[in-house]
Amino acid sequence: MKNNLTTKFANQIIDGNEPVLLFEEGNHKIFWVGISNETAFRCNVYLIVDEEEAIVVDPGSRSFFTQVQSNITKVCPLENVMGLILCHQDPDVAASMIDWLNFKPEIKIISSNRTNVLLPHYGIEEYDFFDIGESNFTFSSGKELQFIEAPFLHFPGAFTTLDLTSHFLFSGDIWAALDMDWKLIVDDFEEHTMNMDLFHLSYMASNIAARGFANKLENLKIDAILPQHGSIIDSHNVEDAKNYLKELRCGTDIIYGELD
Ligand SMILES: [Fe+2]
Ligand SMILES: [Fe+2]
Repeated sequence: MKNNLTTKFANQIIDGNEPVLLFEEGNHKIFWVGISNETAFRCNVYLIVDEEEAIVVDPGSRSFFTQVQSNITKVCPLENVMGLILCHQDPDVAASMIDWLNFKPEIKIISSNRTNVLLPHYGIEEYDFFDIGESNFTFSSGKELQFIEAPFLHFPGAFTTLDLTSHFLFSGDIWAALDMDWKLIVDDFEEHTMNMDLFHLSYMASNIAARGFANKLENLKIDAILPQHGSIIDSHNVEDAKNYLKELRCGTDIIYGELD
């Protein structure tokens, strides 16, 4: 039976040193695995566990590698981590890839070609690269991850990952929010849009980029949106979240507004 646990955590205080189970169906589980950094720019790291295989979504900065590993140890053996999804190359998303590769060189780096051009600059050039532009990712169980490219939100090669079992969308910087009063799950979406504006107005390229990406989601079933910064958007607010992107004026719309 499918169990989307996101609503259970509304208003609950999360300390960052314990993994939080967000979804469970048989041996397929999704966890929030950190972190505890108390800044507005704090990062979320997620873990998808499918039977004996685990994938870390946006593993994050080197400074929190130990905390993320320690949280993961509480839900599965570290050796089960067989992939890292890197939605783009920013250090808050991807810097710890070298720590992961030093720990286990066989780990697959799951990302876009444009991101992959830059990742070797972290210091390791040889790794097993999975190109998200080629196909879905399939676990040994047959369960799949689908990738939806999100050009210019905010990197040309940015992409999002839809887990086709939970219908959770790992959105990277899209729907990210800056928030000192962080909660795991958004409770008041209207209020939350101000926190998303703080990020999107300056980071995201333009309304065309945002609207074009939102249109790609139209026929997809999405039960929750899990961004890399800010709070998780649960099923009640997914429609509003898509409309937020469609209406967003940001980036060049603002900087060069007089050219419209
Ligand atoms: Fe970024
Ligand atoms: Fe980020």
